[in-house]
Amino acid sequence: MKILVFTEKPFAPAAVKAISDVINASGNELELVERGTRDDLLNAVKEADGLIVRSDVIDAEVMNAAPNLKVIVRAGAGYDNIDLKAATEHGICVMNTPGQNSNAVAELVFGMVVMMCRNQYNGTSGSELKGKSLGIYAFGQVGRNVARIAKGFDMKVTALDVFVPDAVIEAEGVTPLHDVNELFSQNQFVSLHIPATPATKHSIGYDLVMRMPKNGVLINTARKEVIDEPGLIRALEERPDLRYVSDIKPESAEEFEKKFAARVFFTPKKMGAQTAEANFNAGVAAAEQSIAYLKDGWNKFQVNK
Ligand code: 3PG
Repeated sequence: MKILVFTEKPFAPAAVKAISDVINASGNELELVERGTRDDLLNAVKEADGLIVRSDVIDAEVMNAAPNLKVIVRAGAGYDNIDLKAATEHGICVMNTPGQNSNAVAELVFGMVVMMCRNQYNGTSGSELKGKSLGIYAFGQVGRNVARIAKGFDMKVTALDVFVPDAVIEAEGVTPLHDVNELFSQNQFVSLHIPATPATKHSIGYDLVMRMPKNGVLINTARKEVIDEPGLIRALEERPDLRYVSDIKPESAEEFEKKFAARVFFTPKKMGAQTAEANFNAGVAAAEQSIAYLKDGWNKFQVNK
């Protein structure tokens, strides 16, 4: 069977080789399209039985163009780029690869935080993380890795996740919180790890951010859609001590950068999972999961049940 790997943002070369080896060894055929356009996708998917993607948008149009498609694996965690309802209607199984790229994202959180606390290395005196409070919003795989690294910095770590029992959070040496207002009012640093869903989109805005203690830093390595950008801009205008770092440019990046200069930092592309290790882990897992589904319907990480 044919497995199409379509990624606008390419995997590291070593990951591509490993994915290719795994697919070839399984007896399936690989088609690799990197940096492809939408037309390339619509064309390449025509004969695909399996499809591996990253943040690439996979909607009903793509599925309509793919009569043989049986499985889509998102090599990564967030699957807001895939129309799950359309997939279910087309009888297509959608899976993600939980945990495979989470350390990479967690490391970037601290890469961006340290850079911000050292005033983007502009030669002026900055501040340290030791002893400071960090609130983790959603205690999934990335949140847990953030907690592990934060303890190395000797930070005081709390977390809020309504889907995770307190005991699980406590087992990681983290104090559970139960109210998002508390999360923001008790922590100088707040790191977002919530998925983009109808309930979370635009949910982080003026009211929450204004609760942050002095010199608050909001860190977003989740999705830009969870931010209420006009609300955050208003908060940053009223509170010159607040700062915002985000792994991907917000819609209003120009306005943020013009108004707040060194108080904000944005990666030009989503970089959290863009490491050789994360590409390798997520890419190989996606290949193995696709093969297993096509062989005997293995669907442990199906997200459109
Ligand atoms: C994820 O959801 O796994 C991360 O945001 C990484 O996305 P990417 O594969 O587009 O880099």
